[in-house]
Amino acid sequence: MSSETGFAALGGHPAFLTQNDIHLGVNESLSDTAKVLSGFVDIILARVYRHDDLITLTQQASVPIVNGLSEIYHPLQSLADMLTLQEHYGSLSGLTLAWVGDGNNIIHSIMMAAPRLGINLKIATPKGYEIFPEVMADTVKFAKEANTDIFVTNDPLEACQNANIVVTDTWISMGQEEEKAERLKAFKGYQVTKKMTDVMDKDWTFLHCLPRKPEEVDDEVFYSKNSLIWPEAENRKWTVMAVLLSLLTDHVHKTSKPIF
Ligand code: NVA
Repeated sequence: MSSETGFAALGGHPAFLTQNDIHLGVNESLSDTAKVLSGFVDIILARVYRHDDLITLTQQASVPIVNGLSEIYHPLQSLADMLTLQEHYGSLSGLTLAWVGDGNNIIHSIMMAAPRLGINLKIATPKGYEIFPEVMADTVKFAKEANTDIFVTNDPLEACQNANIVVTDTWISMGQEEEKAERLKAFKGYQVTKKMTDVMDKDWTFLHCLPRKPEEVDDEVFYSKNSLIWPEAENRKWTVMAVLLSLLTDHVHKTSKPIF
């Protein structure tokens, strides 16, 4: 919805192809689809499972490809998250963000953004659901360049200690539906509650990309005045508009860049 309404607001004509309309790589090869769609549209925003499918699309299409979510990354979400934090705190440098949850696409993209904006990271994932090693290797490099900290644990309370922001997401991402029972067991103790926010900075904030299930975060935190979930959701629209516009126009900065 954020992409469709955002693209329409920019004067574009969005065409949303659901899984019932297009079976990427099923009726024809992904490469053939990329070439055909390139003749029809100016830009493709693709939500896939396999990140490799996005790579194939970028190699075979002649129009820009935007990652609308893959199993490894969800960059549009982290753009919305960073904008939300920038609006709330005024500047990002020196903040500490705690992650309590799965080592998934959402935290992976936060890891690509946070060090470059001066944000320290404290990441708690259950045993067996850790950050992908290649994502961790890149993050360590970025953190070193930016002189920010990165701390990894299996203890949510330890991650939250003195953090400014706590972020979580679903425990069962798209495509993992069959692992539900096993995951619910493994994530026991990972629900974000007041016990966790009590050990954070007193001006703590909470982010969640939605949709939310109560086992991930209780109502007290989710609906608290410190929760930034509604502006975060709205910012998905403004930030995807910025991405689409940037890719479809010359890269000329008309406004001054914000100070992070
Ligand atoms: N980790 C979730 C994000 C949903 C916006 C998923 O991949 O399903």
